[in-house]
Amino acid sequence: MAKKTLKRKALFITFEGGERTGKSTHIKFLAKLLRKRGLSVKRFREPGSTKLSEQIRKVLLYSKRGIAPETELFLYCAARAQFVKEELFKALKKYKVVICDRFSDSTLVYQGYALGLGIKKISTVVKLACQGIKPDLTFVLDVAPKKALLRIKRKKDRIERRPLKFHEALRKGYRVLAKKEPKRIKIIKADGDKARTHKQIAEVVNLKIKPCRKKICQ
Ligand code: TMP
Repeated sequence: MAKKTLKRKALFITFEGGERTGKSTHIKFLAKLLRKRGLSVKRFREPGSTKLSEQIRKVLLYSKRGIAPETELFLYCAARAQFVKEELFKALKKYKVVICDRFSDSTLVYQGYALGLGIKKISTVVKLACQGIKPDLTFVLDVAPKKALLRIKRKKDRIERRPLKFHEALRKGYRVLAKKEPKRIKIIKADGDKARTHKQIAEVVNLKIKPCRKKICQ
C-alpha cells in the first residue's frame, strides 16, 4: 500500500464543512483557476463518484428507515473504499491535482464527533477505507450552522434534518481536527464575501503548489 502512495503525483485537496457551506462553488472556482494555470484537475465527491458509491449515497441521504450510527459509519466507509479502489488511486497517478468534496475528515467529524461514536474509536475503520490515502491539504469552509441551514430551499435530506445541536457539533469537530493537524487542515471563513474566500483558498494552494511545482509539472 505504501508503494501506491509514493507513486502518486497529484496534490490531493479535500473540501470539508457542515451543510451548505458552499463547497461546490469554491471547488469549481479552484478547479478553474488551476486549469487556467495548465494543471490537469480531476474532481470527485463523497459519498459517490462510482456507481456503487452513488447507490450507497442514496441510501444514506434518503432512506426512510432508521439507520444506526454504526451502520451509517460502515456505509460511508464502504462507499469510500469502493471509490478509492475504483477511482482515486488511478486519478492520483494521472492528474496533477485531485479535488474531493469531502473525504475521511467528514466521517471523523459527522460519525465520530457529532454522532458520538468517537473519533479515536472509529479511526481504524476510517483508515482502512482510505487504503493509505490521506489528503495533502484540506479546506474546512466555516459558516455558522444557523445561517448555513437557511440556504436549504428544497426538502431536507436525512442528515440536514438533524437538530441544530448536531450541526453545531460539526463545527466544533472540525476545529478539533484542525488543531491536531494545522499544517494540513485550514479553516476558512465562508459566510461573507465569496471573492474573499476564493482569494484565501487560492493563496494557500499557491503556497502548496510552488515548492513542489517541479514535481507537479514534470
Ligand atoms: P454532501 O451533501 O456535502 O455531498 O454530503 C453528503 C452528506 O453526507 C452530508 O450531510 C455529510 C454527510 N457525510 C457524513 O456524514 N459522513 C461522511 O463520511 C461523508 C463523506 C459525508
